[in-house]
Amino acid sequence: MSSRRNFIKTSCLACAQFAGLTAVLASLQSCSSIRILEAGISGGSIDVPFSSFEPEEHLKIVRVPQQVYDILLVRQPGQTATALLLQCTHEDTRLVATNSGLYCNLHGSSFSLSGDVKAGPAIRRLKQFPVTEHTDHYTIQFNS
Ligand code: FES
Repeated sequence: MSSRRNFIKTSCLACAQFAGLTAVLASLQSCSSIRILEAGISGGSIDVPFSSFEPEEHLKIVRVPQQVYDILLVRQPGQTATALLLQCTHEDTRLVATNSGLYCNLHGSSFSLSGDVKAGPAIRRLKQFPVTEHTDHYTIQFNS
C-alpha cells in the first residue's frame, strides 16, 4: 500500500515538473520574437516609427530608460493600436509579454493582449494609454 502511494506521489510530481518546464519553454519561445524598442519621452508622449515594425510584426515592447515598466504596443490590421503598461495590477510586478498574452511570474495572473484579466489573483485590467496614428509613426500619450 505504501509503495503504491509512493508511486502515485512520485508520478504526480514528475508530471507537474514536466508541465511546468513545458510552460516555461513555451513562454520563452513565444516571447523571444517580441523585439524591444528603446524610446524617449518628449512632452509626455512617446513616438514609435512604423519602420521599427517588421512587416508581419504586431507587438513591440517600448522601453523608456527612466521608467520602471515597459509598454507593449499592439497593432492589429484594421484596428487602432493599443498601448499597455506591463505592470501587474495585483501587486505591481513587471509582466512577461508573449505572443499569446501577458503573464505575471509572482502569483500567476495573466492578461490578454487587450489588457483584460484572464486569470487572477489580479482583478483589474491593465493600464492603457491612448495611441494616435500619424502618417509614419504612432504617438503614445504616456502622461494621460
Ligand atoms: S503581482 Fe502579479 S499576480 Fe500578484
